[in-house]
Amino acid sequence: MPETTNVDYSTKIPNNVGLMDDQRVLRALEQWHPGYIDWWMTMGPEGFQTSDVYLRTAISIDPKGWAKFDYVKMPEYRWGILLAPRQEDRRVNFGMHKGEKAWQEVPGEYRAMLRRLIVVQGDTEPASVEQQRHLGKTAPSLYDMRNLFQVNVEEGRHLWAMVYLLQKYFGKDGREEAEGLLQRRSGDQDKPRMLGAFNEQTPDWLSFFMFTFFTDRDGKMQLESLAQSGFDPLSRTCRFMLTEEAHHMFVGETGVGRAIERTCQAMREAGIEDANDIEAVRKLGVIDLPTMQKKANLHFSLSLDLFGSEVSTNAANYFTSGVKGRFQETRIEDDHQLTKAVYPVSKLIDGTIKMVDEPALTAINMRLRDDYVNDCLKGVQRWNKVIEKTGVNFRLKLPHVAFHRGIGEFANLHASPAGEVLSEQAWARQKEQWLPSKADGDFIAGLMTPCWKRGEFASWIAPPRIGIDNKPGDFEYVKVDRA
Ligand SMILES: [Fe+2]
Ligand SMILES: [Fe+2]
Repeated sequence: MPETTNVDYSTKIPNNVGLMDDQRVLRALEQWHPGYIDWWMTMGPEGFQTSDVYLRTAISIDPKGWAKFDYVKMPEYRWGILLAPRQEDRRVNFGMHKGEKAWQEVPGEYRAMLRRLIVVQGDTEPASVEQQRHLGKTAPSLYDMRNLFQVNVEEGRHLWAMVYLLQKYFGKDGREEAEGLLQRRSGDQDKPRMLGAFNEQTPDWLSFFMFTFFTDRDGKMQLESLAQSGFDPLSRTCRFMLTEEAHHMFVGETGVGRAIERTCQAMREAGIEDANDIEAVRKLGVIDLPTMQKKANLHFSLSLDLFGSEVSTNAANYFTSGVKGRFQETRIEDDHQLTKAVYPVSKLIDGTIKMVDEPALTAINMRLRDDYVNDCLKGVQRWNKVIEKTGVNFRLKLPHVAFHRGIGEFANLHASPAGEVLSEQAWARQKEQWLPSKADGDFIAGLMTPCWKRGEFASWIAPPRIGIDNKPGDFEYVKVDRA
């Protein structure tokens, strides 16, 4: 079957890339498949592999009807290889090759670069599944449990997407990298996942929602910039992944939003005016807003590290070569080559944080991070609307970009969420006001009792406004197998 908008389900691996006529790649993927299933069974959602889950599966790449919903046991999910349709006469849109025809094969001189980008992206996909594998057991509702599993199977599919590119375009090294993606483990001492945030724990559901809001949003920004790539198969792959990614961020934003809503409602009902009266709020069986702020501080700062150093010659090379562009590259009005342009970068100068113009080419990471921060800000404003509506006097904020950083310009410095540079002692004294403490974690863990009755929700989270696929409130999203 040639490349089409419909997906070929006749091969073991559903696809719209004509795998039937590409026996070499089909065989490589079929050989990789058992290892993947093995990984899924040992590192995927713990305890629910035989449950029927109401999941969406991509059946087409037509934006108007690409998914269908049905009950599926997760190990039987049809993980497929789906690329957005090829655009006639697509060009390289930036860098030194701007205006040339987009590449259908990997240019020899950019092979190492592209392989690296694909492997790093690919590594994040299974990592998050590993981080979230124990959460099913404490799901605050069947609705939330289903959303978790939807995110998990799609991250699995994103791994397939990257593995396809490796197997098809990178020969023997590609096959080795595809194996490596199944070998590394989140948080493992000896063979950790490649990026910091993907080796952290996701200890509870508030962390999961914060992760899907902040860290999946980094994923979105990376996919957006890879979707601009001159290497057309990578671009098309990322464009389709972005359609799925939108749901992951929806899960994060509405998850946190519903926790906020429940907290504010409970405060109103109990007549608690002071959002900082943590003890009183916690007695209501909800998560106090200051603790939510701390969680946001943590996940935001960890996610900022994923953008790498503000000033980076690697990023400049990716751009100049045409392999990784900027967010919404084709909508930006400039020469798309940036040989003379500058961009403001925040830096530590004589003990204070200042903006300094740097060559725009080396500031590509900084720019993408700025776009990310703006995107996060909009979500935080929507959370604040939820609080505002209830009349509670509290607002969430994003901390300063220098706060709690491990990579880049501010890695070796202590800064408050307001961006003041602090001494070691001042930091040590106050950091528990800004980041979740052990006691905060214990409190949240205590709330994580499962709630698996149809239409019911745990004490700390409000129900959603509408169901998935317009299902009614008491819909059985997961038929939990209690055998
Ligand atoms: Fe993903
Ligand atoms: Fe995601």
